[in-house]
Amino acid sequence: MAGWLEALEGLAASRAKAGLTRRLRPRAAGAAVVDLAGNDYLGLATHPEVIGASAQSLRTYGLGATGSRLVRGSTSVHASLESELATWLGTPAALVFSSGYLANLAAVRSLAGVCDLIVSDAYNHASLIDGCKISGGRTVVAPHNSPAAVATLLDGHPGRAVVVTESVFSVDGDLAPLAELHEVTSSRGALLLVDDAHALGLLGPSGAGGVAAAGLSGLDDVIVTATLSKSLGGAGGVVAGPAQFVQHLVDTGRTFIYDTALPPAVAAGVHEAMRIARAADDRRALLTARGAQVVSRLRAAGLEVSSPAAGVLSVLAPGPEAALAWAEDCRDRGIAVGCFRPPSTPDGSSRLRLTLNAGIRDADFARALDVIVECSP
Ligand SMILES: Cc1ncc(COP(=O)(O)O)c(C=O)c1O
Repeated sequence: MAGWLEALEGLAASRAKAGLTRRLRPRAAGAAVVDLAGNDYLGLATHPEVIGASAQSLRTYGLGATGSRLVRGSTSVHASLESELATWLGTPAALVFSSGYLANLAAVRSLAGVCDLIVSDAYNHASLIDGCKISGGRTVVAPHNSPAAVATLLDGHPGRAVVVTESVFSVDGDLAPLAELHEVTSSRGALLLVDDAHALGLLGPSGAGGVAAAGLSGLDDVIVTATLSKSLGGAGGVVAGPAQFVQHLVDTGRTFIYDTALPPAVAAGVHEAMRIARAADDRRALLTARGAQVVSRLRAAGLEVSSPAAGVLSVLAPGPEAALAWAEDCRDRGIAVGCFRPPSTPDGSSRLRLTLNAGIRDADFARALDVIVECSP
């Protein structure tokens, strides 16, 4: 086909002009970088017991799952991970996917099969948005964190509906009003789907997540999804809820059926990480203290920083180029921070995203905050 590469070059030039080119930077093993960019909130990705459990399973099962669990068989590692996840989240059942993205695609698409309206928060993660898109169902985007707007949308809809939200939002780190949202959904016979990606391991009793913190665990009108790649330091995703829904996903969830399963070695590492995370109140307390430390240090320097509900904070930048240069200057000085620009930012304003990590030493953490201030535009 003639001209398609030129068309791509034209699009790349427009992105470059808008300051939106993305670059892959090399990441050296064990680099002496203070990580405020990843999502290893509890510092478990490199925990020796997590690595040990994973290595043992690697020797038993080999590198990959070698197929879908429906075709290749379901290992005891997957089964026990799912049963422990269900216990932790307080749900009757749970199903593990090979990523949080795929878990969300399956959950939203499947719910659209029994609901004829999806109400999706304006700041939802791309995986939830894509779930709405591939579901083919009618989707209405609700203003961010507005139970009143959700109530109005549901009141205008006589059929079955599902409301889709994150618990802790992935860019600004603010918390959804889950209890109020559930009051709105349950009083109108609607379902509530909550992506607990950034709250699992951080909020709620024993780190059981934002849904547990809001007292909504185990309700038959609440579905929880989460990634196993953040506080649990591994990879994979989970959908947790009523047993009938989980069976429906096994029967019809395309990203479960037609996807090679999560490698058993990853499942085993995540299982061990979960055991540690459940008992990690000390790490959670450290993260709370660190969130307060970031806010006071950065606000004292005149920077506009969000208040963290869990482990994510954002610091406003004057524009996309300034955000990029700021993040690069920090990185040059050994501090990794996230740089979020449109279209990854829900409201079109660029910022640094800082993620807390309980595995960082106090002195390194304080130095990281100094560097962020010193490099600010
Ligand atoms: C809110 C949210 N949901 C889902 C995902 C996707 O999870 P995964 O990386 O496991 O695909 C992410 C990010 O990674 C996220 O931030």
